[in-house]
Amino acid sequence: MMALLGLLVLSLFHVSLVGSHTSSQHASSPPQPAGEQSPEGSDNLSFPWSRLRLPRYIIPLHYDLHLHPNLTSLSFTGSVQIQIDVQNNTNWVVLHSKGLKISKATILDKNLSHLSDKVLPVLHHPSHEQIGIFSPRVLSSGRKYFLCIEFGAELAEGFYGFYKSTYRTSTGETRTLASTHFEPTSARMAFPCFDEPSFKANFTVRIKRNPEFISLSNMPIVKTVEVGDGLLEDQFDVSVKMSTYLVAFVVCDFKSVTATTSSGVQVSIYASPEKWQQTSYALEVAVKMLDFYDEYFNIHYPLPKQDLIAIPDFESGAMENWGLTTYRETSLLYDPLTSSISDKLWITMVIGHELAHQWFGNLVTMEWWNDIWLNEGFARYMEYISVEATYPDLKVEEYLLHTCFAAVGSDSLNSSRPISSPAENPTQITQMFDTASYDKGACVLHMLRHFLTDDVFQRGIVRYLRKYSYKNALNQDLWDSLANTCSEEDFISGKHCYSSSQASKNAYLFAGEHLDLTAMMNTWILQKGVPLVTVTRKGPHLLLRQDRFLRTVLPSDPLWSSLQKGFLWHIPLTYKTDASNTIHRHLMTTQTDSIHIGEEVSWVKVNTDMTGYYVVHYEDGGWDKMTKLLRQNHTALSYKDRTQLIHNAFQLVTAGHLSLDKGLDLIGYLQLETHNVPLLQGLGSLQAFYHMIEKRNEIDVTRKLRMHILRFFRAVIDQQTWSDGGSVSERRLRSELLSLACHLDDPPCLERARQSFKHWLQSKGTLNLPTDVAEAVFSVGAQEDRGWASLLHTYNISSSAAQKSKILFALTCSRDTNKLHRLLELGLEGKVIRSQDLSSLIFMVARNPQGHRLAWNFVKKNWDTLVQRFQLGSFCISSIIIGTTGHFSSPEELAEVQLFFESIKEQASQLRATQVALDNVQKNVRWFQRNLETLRNWLNQQM
Ligand code: BES
Ligand code: ZN
Repeated sequence: MMALLGLLVLSLFHVSLVGSHTSSQHASSPPQPAGEQSPEGSDNLSFPWSRLRLPRYIIPLHYDLHLHPNLTSLSFTGSVQIQIDVQNNTNWVVLHSKGLKISKATILDKNLSHLSDKVLPVLHHPSHEQIGIFSPRVLSSGRKYFLCIEFGAELAEGFYGFYKSTYRTSTGETRTLASTHFEPTSARMAFPCFDEPSFKANFTVRIKRNPEFISLSNMPIVKTVEVGDGLLEDQFDVSVKMSTYLVAFVVCDFKSVTATTSSGVQVSIYASPEKWQQTSYALEVAVKMLDFYDEYFNIHYPLPKQDLIAIPDFESGAMENWGLTTYRETSLLYDPLTSSISDKLWITMVIGHELAHQWFGNLVTMEWWNDIWLNEGFARYMEYISVEATYPDLKVEEYLLHTCFAAVGSDSLNSSRPISSPAENPTQITQMFDTASYDKGACVLHMLRHFLTDDVFQRGIVRYLRKYSYKNALNQDLWDSLANTCSEEDFISGKHCYSSSQASKNAYLFAGEHLDLTAMMNTWILQKGVPLVTVTRKGPHLLLRQDRFLRTVLPSDPLWSSLQKGFLWHIPLTYKTDASNTIHRHLMTTQTDSIHIGEEVSWVKVNTDMTGYYVVHYEDGGWDKMTKLLRQNHTALSYKDRTQLIHNAFQLVTAGHLSLDKGLDLIGYLQLETHNVPLLQGLGSLQAFYHMIEKRNEIDVTRKLRMHILRFFRAVIDQQTWSDGGSVSERRLRSELLSLACHLDDPPCLERARQSFKHWLQSKGTLNLPTDVAEAVFSVGAQEDRGWASLLHTYNISSSAAQKSKILFALTCSRDTNKLHRLLELGLEGKVIRSQDLSSLIFMVARNPQGHRLAWNFVKKNWDTLVQRFQLGSFCISSIIIGTTGHFSSPEELAEVQLFFESIKEQASQLRATQVALDNVQKNVRWFQRNLETLRNWLNQQM
């Protein structure tokens, strides 16, 4: 029946027609090779397939891939022999290819004899990034064949596919390397393939190279042979069964360091030759992490080696290619002289993240991109679990709340999306790598783990990983694995799945009584938004109500009811009272509910340690009670509870549920606070207002707010030393506080920073400043012409990516718009400032009150270039849009943003970021309408 499918489709669609409705999808696609060889009169053939997803009746089993990159001509040629399993008779093989020039295609039967003595016609469908190969002889159902394709292309210019990167040696020589980044849909730029996550296959890679280079791929090299012309060919071992997006190869002249894990896996860190001294920390981390995951997942890492490599040009942070994870230099290289404690934490978390993917993502992969959260949400959450276990001193747990806050931030705007959402074309798929998949995914997993208990959660995910190894999974598969912690067999044979001490826990009741985990989790995964739980005291009861929390719309707004309609969550509530030390639990599944707490209770704090993904509002004087409690006895609550109260209060202020002065009163207790997390949360809230207000013409309020912040935090600012001493928490607080104090023109801070900068200048940049305060010092130094110029010079020659990123930030703090403009131009040019840093550069310039209009105009002017360089749906494009509009707060600016989006309508309509940007500006406009006067009055009262 399917044999006719090709012909049927052929008569219904014409290739140009099929392409037309999505022709604008890839504005940045390179031109396709036109006028392919057309043997056998392929002119008469039409493209046989009209959908974006490939037909399922041809299954790739094994790829034999040969590649020959030429780092002088900056191009590559290759051939691939794909063993396919044909499941329905057909004349066509349809697979992915993008920007490749196909020079020859043939099909062999299982005995390796040609089905046709002619070269086969290859049809292209560029807008779907597909090719169709026509076999005059029917490929029969149930048989296996070999599909052989020869191809070539230029090494890509951007950051996707098989792309070129360069670096400069200390003698000024430029060297070239070639590396890959395929996720989500760019393997097809390097070789023709079935580029969808559920087409898992084995890969055997061979790479030709000059002897002065090395080559790396997912697996170790099994042999290297001389192939003439002075070339060598490395043959890599056959891989495990895996998705195409995880294939990787690199040809470079890097050096490495190696160590072995307890189970004998060889771990190596690769970096450009002069940077290999910066690799030792990553090596230590990677070995520890692999050992940790081996044990936590109770499944051995299945490959014999794991290489981690720092690629000088890398768009995102890192990529989890199986056995060959790739990193931005700042995500892997730790330089003891210039890397700060935050840099160290970042590297540790990134490695923890990519290595978690070796199980979550590589071993078990989501069926389709709509559920990329099964990869990214887990990897983000595992960062916390693994770093906490391997590097407890880093106190990574202190950051988890921020992951949840980030999720709440975007999920409380109407532009958010459910964690699991449809995504078909590459632009849609790329946009799935966002806060919802990562941060909300992680935060919802945190809630689930807490609900089920650590042990039940861990067993459940191990069950999931085992059951779906080398396969693909759906959300439902995860819920089933988690809920089924006792297997039927174990249960019947009377095995105890929980120790007796755990039997009394709620988790046992929930899991054991077959709580409908799916129904509960669907409310978090398939529904967008975050719930607002409003609590009121009524005698011995706590009354509860849940609504969807929106920061832009109030109940009085006509839009309110339509935006609330149909939203309901199954919320695993927790709370604490002054009456006992127990954490109480209650599963809230209805819109309103009530809990008996007793008359004698004086305060109730809901969402203990923010283990739940919801915002809490204490109505009817409830916030006053909290304010009083914090002032009288703040340690009655954990630091996480205090931090969460501060966060929730200011979210509610933005949403208009709480007045600003109440929020400001709540943080009044911070003068007594000694824990850095709530301190930074309070400071961050004030700083956020300051950043918005300093960009408006509100000189008086800006000045008063600045004075207030400095006066309020005076004691703690004065306690800081300008050194790298102390615990991780102390170091982090110091770094943030001093940066802020100098940014607010605090005279003692400026003086101290100027002094340090002078010493640094005198040493001609050879003196190493304390790493945690270097950024603050550089930012002050950058205010003088000479300082700025010296910093730019050091930026240009520094061999530490950590140092460079601090300097770049400092350079963007200049108040001189000419200098800011120069930076943007340098970023666009991509030489002194690499293109990989352009989006964060734009973001940082936009943060500066003198630069925010400049950055916005720059984006408007260079929009086409930016889209071409970073691809439409990429994280960079989103952050450029959101970063340059995020500080606008007037109706005029809103209109201006709308006007620009209108002018790029076709692209704007495909981007979620444009909706997010508009929601953001709207939120800021309302913030000013609601709060500016209150703030003005409140500040006047403080003076
Ligand atoms: N799988 C991603 C890399 C990626 C990002 C692919 C975007 C396609 C689109 C990788 O595991 C990742 O999440 N990288 C992060 C850094 C990480 C520490 C969170 C990134 O690149 O931002
Ligand atoms: Zn990831």
